[in-house]
Amino acid sequence: MRRRTARPVPFFEFRGGALHCEGVSLVALANDAGTPLYVYSQSALEDRFRAFDGAFSDFPHLTCYAAKACSSLAILALLHRMGAGIDVVSGGELRRALMAGVDPRKIVFSGVGKSVDEMDLALRHGILQFNAESEAELRLLGERAKMSGMVAPVGLRVNPAVDPQTHPYIATGLEQSKFGVPISAAVPLLRRYSRHRHIRIQGIGCHIGSQITEIGPFVVAARKLKEATAALRATGIEIRQLDLGGGLGIRYDDETPPSPTAYAAAIKSELRDLGCSLILEPGRTLVGDAGIFLTRVLFAKAGQGRNFLIVDGAMNDLVRPSLYGAYHRVLPVVRSRRAAWLVDVVGPVCESSDFLARDRILPRMRAGELLAILSAGAYGFVLSSNYNSRPRAAEILVKGHRFRVIRKRETLPDLVRGESARPFR
Ligand code: LLP
Repeated sequence: MRRRTARPVPFFEFRGGALHCEGVSLVALANDAGTPLYVYSQSALEDRFRAFDGAFSDFPHLTCYAAKACSSLAILALLHRMGAGIDVVSGGELRRALMAGVDPRKIVFSGVGKSVDEMDLALRHGILQFNAESEAELRLLGERAKMSGMVAPVGLRVNPAVDPQTHPYIATGLEQSKFGVPISAAVPLLRRYSRHRHIRIQGIGCHIGSQITEIGPFVVAARKLKEATAALRATGIEIRQLDLGGGLGIRYDDETPPSPTAYAAAIKSELRDLGCSLILEPGRTLVGDAGIFLTRVLFAKAGQGRNFLIVDGAMNDLVRPSLYGAYHRVLPVVRSRRAAWLVDVVGPVCESSDFLARDRILPRMRAGELLAILSAGAYGFVLSSNYNSRPRAAEILVKGHRFRVIRKRETLPDLVRGESARPFR
């Protein structure tokens, strides 16, 4: 049971008893754009990017925002305008980045399972780097590059076997993970590919997990990359670039993640004399706090031993609580003096795992009132689905007193687009 009263995150503040995103009232926004709704603060996004990227300003680097955290075109365009590159993991994300006007020479392509079409698309556009994750992928990439008379720039993702002390579903650098090649295999593998005419090995990299709130695992991973770089250089393979992945956590509840400055300082001091430039792939730390999810109460229901606020947002809109048991702070959008009760905030989807928050002390809210689910900017909208044939939410970007719909709410016709109602006779 959580008794502490949740406080808003920066750029989301109470004014006159009602929660605002920058200068825009969330009550007004919800009335205008409907609910459920994702709302992002552009100033928060700018602030987070400046804090992260600025922390590396005295070190050669490129911050490649991990599009998977929130891949809306306006957000990609904003971060790119501020100097970010983009880390993509699919042809779809690559197309989004290109549509948002991202310079392909600032795009890295990560992921364990790239298809031929995805490789060809990325080769055609001349991206900065493929983060290759297996020998089979290197072989195929070499073949595709050869067929189009090109050279594929490659960073090899190694698995440094570091425990990031996070949720097991988002730990990616453990020995048993599907990601990367064992660090001990890097030397023999890259030796075989160092003279390939259509592959240019330019670096190695890793990504050890997400929502990491300790600095230690990052330092251990950086150290292991440094050792691997030395071993590779000893065999004549020039490594000029290290990709450290993403993973820096944010505060959802009472976590105390390192600041971007502390994170950067630890990494820079570990890698200072290596003569490598860095690629960083932050996702959550740039967008997590910059977005909230707004939902409206449909019904209040006192169950047997449990109370429920049934809201119009559900697990299909924000799956993190159902999928990882993730905690998001919840706030009534309008402050209330009504008596509090212990409730679960649940959606209309027909699954018991359809909850947004459990065991919260909230004022007794009534139908039509609004709740804000905080820190929903990362892995929120992007993980939403149409389960129960629910249209996906709209997305709004706020800057100062202005707001803009950056993604329209889906409509029922959108849901059946491309379907046929004709079974076989
Ligand atoms: N680079 C690679 C190769 C990744 O796989 C990821 C995230 C990132 C960068 C960005 O990591 P971040 O800075 O956001 O931690 N859906 C989960 C998180 C999955 C993360 C997957 N990989 C969640 O909602 O917590």
